[in-house]
Amino acid sequence: MNERACFNVEGFRRLAKRRLPGPVFHYIDGAADDEVTYARNTAAYENCDLVPNVLVDVADVDLSTTVMGKKIDLPVFLSPTALQKLFHYEGELAVARAAEKFNTWFGISSLATVTIEEIGRLVSSPKLFQLYVHKDKGLNDSLIDRCKEAGFDALALTVDTIVGGNRERDLRTGFTSPPRLTPGSLLSFAAHPRWTLGYLFRSHFELANLKDHVREGSSISLSISDYFSTMLDQSMDWDTAAAIRARWGGPFCLKGIMSVDDARRAVDLGATTIMLSNHGGRQLDGARAPFDQLAEIVDAVGGQIEVVCDGGIRRGTHVLKALSVGADACSGGRLYLYALAAAGQSGVEKTLRNFYTEIERGMKLMGVGSVSGLSRSSVRFR
Ligand code: LAC
Repeated sequence: MNERACFNVEGFRRLAKRRLPGPVFHYIDGAADDEVTYARNTAAYENCDLVPNVLVDVADVDLSTTVMGKKIDLPVFLSPTALQKLFHYEGELAVARAAEKFNTWFGISSLATVTIEEIGRLVSSPKLFQLYVHKDKGLNDSLIDRCKEAGFDALALTVDTIVGGNRERDLRTGFTSPPRLTPGSLLSFAAHPRWTLGYLFRSHFELANLKDHVREGSSISLSISDYFSTMLDQSMDWDTAAAIRARWGGPFCLKGIMSVDDARRAVDLGATTIMLSNHGGRQLDGARAPFDQLAEIVDAVGGQIEVVCDGGIRRGTHVLKALSVGADACSGGRLYLYALAAAGQSGVEKTLRNFYTEIERGMKLMGVGSVSGLSRSSVRFR
């Protein structure tokens, strides 16, 4: 099996599973507790059917949309995710270049393995920075200031990782950042020489934006769940969010909003965008799926703030359903991480091409010429 046979996200998932050492694959693929929310994030789309109109001229369709002040060429983008050089030696650089080719948003995490400045220099397409609020206030301020300096286009404050989720696959495999060599993981690394050689000789793994402030994660091995629980500021509240928004001053997104009350507070705060997300089911298992919660949120705050439906997206038709319910755009992490792990930049490009083609085909079959042509009458819930 190779990249050519990967026609969809699941294809890349299978290839990533073969190419990655077990602990690394399961870090990406796993979620919290019984992974019920993780499964529901995608299953939620099956409760909703598309209702097409026909005999519409769809010779030319326009997939573009505008979100966080930037026009993007397709209504789905690449959510920020951590530790990417662990998945492929080019890490975030590969993802950034692929996103630029398709002119869509991508983001880097505070736990990225490249610097803010490298990304600022590398691509001119829309880029956001995902801030994790650390106990070290100087670190938070310096990350925000560096993003301004480097020309980042939006800041996304993560609000759903106040403590680490219970990721039992990571407990089982002993996954840490940086990877710790245990008898089990050593066997797994030896069985995946292509990954191991890339990691040892072609990538330089470190938490590039944090290493001067904290050693945890870069030189002290820690599980990601322990990192969240020990390094992040559990006293973060709406005042913290307001202060960060004020310091940043540009398009501002809250990533991980799920309730109507919080969505209203995000409007009051003056946020540009909310990402409706449960962190890919990696935090609070039993939490509602973003797509299940979307209509309620759009009914409450639609038109006052942009709503991005993040998580569970595996197909272009999932994007069409979310846009029909009223999302301004969709986003996801695993949807491109499997491809990054399996095939680097060309894998991420292929995934974006697959999404572009599926959304374009779906729009034509739905009888809509632009994303604004999708509405509640385009879907029916079972
Ligand atoms: C995660 C963080 C780092 O592992 O986003 O879910």
